[in-house]
Amino acid sequence: MSGIGILGVGHCVPKKVLTNHDLEKMVDTTDEWILTRTGIKERRIAGKHEKNSDLATGAAREALKQANLNAHDVELIIVATISPDSNFPSVACLVQKALGAKKAAAFDIGAACSGFLYAMTTAKQFLQSGMYQNALVIASEKITSLIDWNDRSTCVLFGDGAGACVLGPVRGKRGIISEFMHAQGNFGDLMAVVFEDGEPLSQQNKTIAKPFVVMQGQELFKIAVNSMAAAVEQAIKKAKLKLEDIDLVVPHQANDRIISAVAKKLKVPKEKIFVNIDRYGNMSAASIAVALYEAVVQGRIKKGDNVALVTFGAGLVSAANIIKW
Ligand code: ACO
Repeated sequence: MSGIGILGVGHCVPKKVLTNHDLEKMVDTTDEWILTRTGIKERRIAGKHEKNSDLATGAAREALKQANLNAHDVELIIVATISPDSNFPSVACLVQKALGAKKAAAFDIGAACSGFLYAMTTAKQFLQSGMYQNALVIASEKITSLIDWNDRSTCVLFGDGAGACVLGPVRGKRGIISEFMHAQGNFGDLMAVVFEDGEPLSQQNKTIAKPFVVMQGQELFKIAVNSMAAAVEQAIKKAKLKLEDIDLVVPHQANDRIISAVAKKLKVPKEKIFVNIDRYGNMSAASIAVALYEAVVQGRIKKGDNVALVTFGAGLVSAANIIKW
């Protein structure tokens, strides 16, 4: 039986760049603080009329082109997101419409920053079972719409963007060779989007306070390091490989210091870790999808390489996939 692997990758990020110096004019912060504490220099911000589904569609088109797959032939679309255009229709259905992928089943997955790997693993099950022959997996976020721009502890961290991949059968012992997913719901309150007045939306009261991200950064930091290191180790064990066999680790880009701490814990040299947080900040689910895209187009991943993807996010949820390229 052939494996399930990545046939094409794509990405789409907003044109608008918000630098640390721009943020200095908005909140009480400095370029130096943001850079030394997070590794972020700038991030992309979607405009008022630029929707999550627009970014998702852009990334999808590029991935389909690279995979040489016509939109009419797409059988499954899964979008990982926590910042959809609206509660429903799903972003996946909006993408389906925009692409004209009439044959496809489509749905969203909410697993915060781990969404891309949760979606990839979910799609793989459908392909492995034979139910579908291909799947378009997208991670897309307009997370800056959930940010309180007066809160310096969160607004400097995030950015918008989308990444995508097409999954399908691959020959030989290639493709996604192992995956690991875990959740720790007991830590859910460390990062959440809450309604300011705590009131659910009702037919009588259609106006609600704008929800925004609240976060306990230091607590998350520690759990992020431990969860990502553990997730990589579990996935490598399942793949019957050793850490030394991994050619490139592509981690979730929440904080460069988290990435360095994970590398140190795993004893993986920094040159084997892909980092692009300096240009994008934390794009939630889209971070790892865009990082994977850039690693591929920059030639950091070559045929035959063992690639470890690892994520951590609100929920709390962690995941890792090992892919033989
Ligand atoms: N500019 C200047 N000072 C700031 C800023 C800012 N933007 N933000 C906070 N500070 C101040 C604080 O007020 C505090 O001041 P005090 O000492 O006078 O009280 C000081 O800086 C230190 O604050 P800490 O919160 O202790 O800073 P820390 O070194 O922990 O860095 C950070 C904060 C960057 C948030 C870090 O904790 C982190 O990255 N945590 C993980 C966050 C994360 O991973 N989130 C996403 C996970 S899930 C997902 O990706 C969807």
